[in-house]
Amino acid sequence: MIKILGIESSCDDTSAAVICDRCLLSNVIANQKVHEKYGGVIPELASRVHQQNIIPVVDMALKEANITKSDLDAIAFTGSPGLLGSLLVGVSFAKGLAASIGVPLIEVNHLQGHVLSHFIEEQGRIKTFPSLPFMCLLVSGGHTQIIVVKDYLDFEIIGETIDDAAGEAFDKCAKVMGLPYPGGPVIDALANKGDHAAFSFAKPKVADFNYSFSGLKTSFLYFLQKKIAENPAFVEENKADLCASIQQTIIDILIDKLIKAVAKTGIKDVAIAGGVSANSGLAGKLQQTGNKLGWNVFVPERKFTTDNAAMIAITGYFKYQKKLFAGLDVVPHARIEKI
Ligand code: KG4
Ligand code: ZN
Repeated sequence: MIKILGIESSCDDTSAAVICDRCLLSNVIANQKVHEKYGGVIPELASRVHQQNIIPVVDMALKEANITKSDLDAIAFTGSPGLLGSLLVGVSFAKGLAASIGVPLIEVNHLQGHVLSHFIEEQGRIKTFPSLPFMCLLVSGGHTQIIVVKDYLDFEIIGETIDDAAGEAFDKCAKVMGLPYPGGPVIDALANKGDHAAFSFAKPKVADFNYSFSGLKTSFLYFLQKKIAENPAFVEENKADLCASIQQTIIDILIDKLIKAVAKTGIKDVAIAGGVSANSGLAGKLQQTGNKLGWNVFVPERKFTTDNAAMIAITGYFKYQKKLFAGLDVVPHARIEKI
C-alpha cells in the first residue's frame, strides 16, 4: 500500500491530501477570502497566505488520514501551471519535507490532476470510472481543452481555447453585472431562477475543436451598456435571466465542439473536469446529450471539480507506479505547453 501526500498551491487555494493507493484518506482545502474584495486573485497576497496556510493544512491532512509523516512513501506537488509565487510555496515545502523524511518527490501538472480526479476512490463508495481511452472536456479558470486521455499519463489535446478560458468567460461576465468574484458559482445559482432563452448572444466561429470566449464577453458588455443607457436598472431587473442566458450560451459552445470531437474519434466515454465542471447547467446538458447520443458520461463530484490536492495525490500515485520522480533541483513553471 503506497501512501502519498499531495500538495496543491497553484492559485488561491492551499490544499493537502493523503491517498493510500487510489483511496482518498483526507483532502483539506483552505480557501483564501482575501481576494474577494479585489474582484480577482492578487498573486502577491496569494503566496503570502499560502505560506501561512501550508503547515496547518498539511498537518490537518495527516491527522485526518490518521497517519504521521513517517508513514508517507512520496510527496506529490503541483509544479505547473499556476502563479509562480504560489507554486513556489508548495514546491519548497514539498522539497523540504521529502528531503527530511527521505522519500521521493513527484512533480504533477495541475491540468493532468483535474482530469485524473475521475480515478479517486473513497472508502465505502461505489464508483464507476471512465474506460481508457476517454474524452475529457477540461474547463477551468485558466484553461479550456478537449483532451483524448489515451492512458493515465498519456494525453492528447485535440482542441483548446484560442483566447479566454470558459471560467474566465463566467468570471468576466459576472464582473460586468457587478457580481462578486469568482463569478461562475454565482451565475450558476442565479441562472437556476432565470429563463435561458430570455436573451441570445452570438456564438463564435472557430476552426476544428478549438474555442474562443473573448468575443462573447465583449458582446455581452456592449449589450449591457446599450440596455443600461435605456434603463439604468436593467441588470438589477433582469439578473436571473441574464445569468441563465449567458450560461446557456457558454454551455452550448462547449458541448457543440465536444459532440464534434466524439463524432470524429468515436470515443464514447466522455468526462468533464475543472472548476467549471461544477456548473449544474453544464453537467445537466452533458448528461442530456450523452443520453441522446449513447455516451457514458462522467461528472466529478463537486469537491473534486475546483482546485484540490486529492487530484494531485492520485496523479502522484500513477507517476509513482512508473517511478517518475523529480529531483531536489526541480523548479515550478507558471506556464506549460504540454501535459
Ligand atoms: O479549476 P479551478 O478551481 O481553478 C483553475 O485551475 O483555474 O477553476 C476555477 C474556475 C473559476 O473561473 C470559477 O468561476 C469557475 O471555475 N467555477 C464555476 C463554477 N464553480 C467554479 N463556473 C461555473 N459554474 C460553477 N458552478
Ligand atoms: Zn484548477
